[in-house]
Parts: sequence; C-alpha cells; structure tokens
Amino acid sequence: MKRQAALGAVLAIALAALGAMAAAERDLGNAGQFDDSPPAATVAPRPGSAFMSPELQAMQRDDMANPGMLWVADGEALWRRPAGASERSCASCHGAAEQSMRGVAARLPAFDAARRGAIDLRQRIESCRQDRQIDEPWPPESQRSLSLEAYVAHQSRGMPIAPPDDPRLAAARERGRKLFEQRIGQLDLSCAQCHDANAGRRLGGSTIPPADTSGYPVYRLEWQALGSLQRRLRNCMSGVRAQPYEFGAQELIDLELHLNARAEGVAVETPGVRP
Ligand code: HEC
Ligand code: HEC
Repeated sequence: MKRQAALGAVLAIALAALGAMAAAERDLGNAGQFDDSPPAATVAPRPGSAFMSPELQAMQRDDMANPGMLWVADGEALWRRPAGASERSCASCHGAAEQSMRGVAARLPAFDAARRGAIDLRQRIESCRQDRQIDEPWPPESQRSLSLEAYVAHQSRGMPIAPPDDPRLAAARERGRKLFEQRIGQLDLSCAQCHDANAGRRLGGSTIPPADTSGYPVYRLEWQALGSLQRRLRNCMSGVRAQPYEFGAQELIDLELHLNARAEGVAVETPGVRP
C-alpha cells in the first residue's frame, strides 16, 4: 500500500511534467490515490479512445467535428499531386488509396529489405517519395508529412491492428519490450509502470491510457494540431525527465512494434482525437 502511494506521488509529478492537464496539477495534493478499478492491462486490449470523455469520443467519431479530418483532406490532395523529378503522384502508381492502402497502417512497422530493419509508415511513404518520385525528404512532423501519413492510415480505419508474424522483426520487437519495461529518466519510471500496471486508472485529472497506437497520427487538443506517435512517445519520455529519442530513431520504431503487439486486434481509428 505504502509503495503504491509513493509510486502515485512520483506519477503525479510525472503527469504535471507531461503537462497533462491543469486539473492534474490542481489535484497534486491528493495524488497517489488511484481509484480501485482493475488495471486495464488485465482486460482485453482496448483503444485509448475508450478512456476518453463521451464528448471527446463523439468528436472523434464525427468526421465533421474531428479536426484531424482536415489533415486527412490535405493528405488526399498530396496523394493526387505529381511531385519530384518523376512527376508522378502516389495515385499514378497506386491508384485509389481506398483499395491500395487499405490495411497498410494496420500491419506496419514492417521489415524493409533495403534497410535491413523495421520501418514505420512515415518511413515507408518517404521511401516511395525519395526513391520513386525522386523528391526531397520531408522533415518528420512537418504538416505535409503528417497529412499524407494520416490519409494513408485513415484507409485502414476499422481494421484490426495485425502485427506481421515475421521472424525478421522479432529482435526489434523484443528490444521494444525491454525498453518499455526499463526504468528511465530522473523519475526512474518505466512505461509499463504507468501503462500496464495503472492503465485505465485515474490519477489527478487524467486517465492513463493503455498506450495503444490505433489513433495515430492523432489530433491532440493540447497540441492544437495533429501529431505522430513518435511525438507522443517523446512527450512521455520528457514527462519522466528522460532524454527523448530523436524522431526516426530505431528505439522509437522498436517501441512501436511492442505497442502494436500489445494492441493486436484493436481497430485502427485514425485520425484519433486526444485531450
Ligand atoms: C507517469 C506515467 C507515464 C509514463 C511513465 C509513461 N506514460 Fe505514456 N502516457 C501517460 C499519460 C497520462 C498519457 C495520456 C496523456 C493525455 O492524453 O492527457 C500517456 C499517453 C501515451 C500514449 C498515447 C496513447 C493514446 O491513446 O493516444 C502512448 C502511446 C504512450 N503514452 C506510450 C508511452 C511509452 C512508450 C512510455 C515509455 C517510454 C510512456 N508512455 C511512459 C503516462 C505515462
Ligand atoms: C513510381 C511508382 C510509385 C510511386 C510514384 C509511389 N509508389 Fe508507393 N510503392 C510503389 C511500389 C512498386 C511499391 C511496392 C514495392 C516496394 O516495396 O517498393 C510501393 C509501396 C508503397 C507502400 C507500402 C504498401 C504495402 O502494402 O506495404 C506505401 C505505404 C506506399 N507505397 C505509399 C506511397 C505514397 C504515399 C506515395 C506518394 C508519396 C507513393 N507510394 C508513390 C511504387 C510507387
């Protein structure tokens, strides 16, 4: 009991550092008191959206109200626009994204023979942009990059996350699991301490989500923008006062592989909405 209270106090500091919510900070005084609900990790995998307020869930469900759909619309325009020295568009090779891109986001990251490693959806798109369109790289987290990724991921909406059973991914996935369980940062907390042991529990003003990937890229109210899974992971790392991995770092891909294995079967919801 005592240990849990101590962990709770540390978590509360982390939440404040995460900038989770003003309410979380207000509640710092009585932090350390998780409610008694069983941690979500003990029940079937569920999307992060299941732990949001009904208002936010409604916003996510309604395409007219979901701000992420603005990025998806931009992504659709990019899909059709000829680019690079090839002067070809994504559509010139892939046709209608509704067919050709359906299911892609549900199974990535996947093994890439050229890179001899796992690549995520952004890198997959970049490889077509650079090698097939013969165009300049786009920086991670740029508006265009997020828009095109959101458009492609949106084509898998409703499909269950289905991590490939590819032995070439096993080592990276295992590295991801270890990273998830390893204590990091000045607060000396692991991802698992929040997202496995206390998922679904309220702490201060926030609910700790199960850390699944189904909504990404997501529109986050706190960001007032769409952001990638890697941005979210970096936020959690700064929250525990650890040095976040750079965008595109192998560690972030490894973590994504582990997160997807945990979330197998959860339906893709891109673009998700988050507080
Ligand atoms: C101190 C507790 C804590 C730790 C440690 C922590 N997180 Fe989080 N994480 C949170 C909270 C709280 C949120 C949700 C914040 C919000 O939306 O207001 C979150 C959100 C997330 C999400 C987004 C889930 C969704 O539904 O959109 C992912 C993915 C995630 N964390 C992964 C990680 C990983 C990987 C690590 C370890 C590197 C980690 N977290 C460490 C508390 C934590
Ligand atoms: C010149 C033709 C060409 C263009 C232009 C092109 N691609 Fe591709 N793309 C391919 C081919 C061929 C493959 C499959 C073979 C491979 O792995 O490279 C592929 C594979 C993909 C995949 C992986 C699909 C899967 O099933 O895993 C994605 C995602 C993708 N492309 C997205 C895009 C996007 C987004 C654009 C526009 C920015 C684009 N592509 C432009 C030819 C192209």
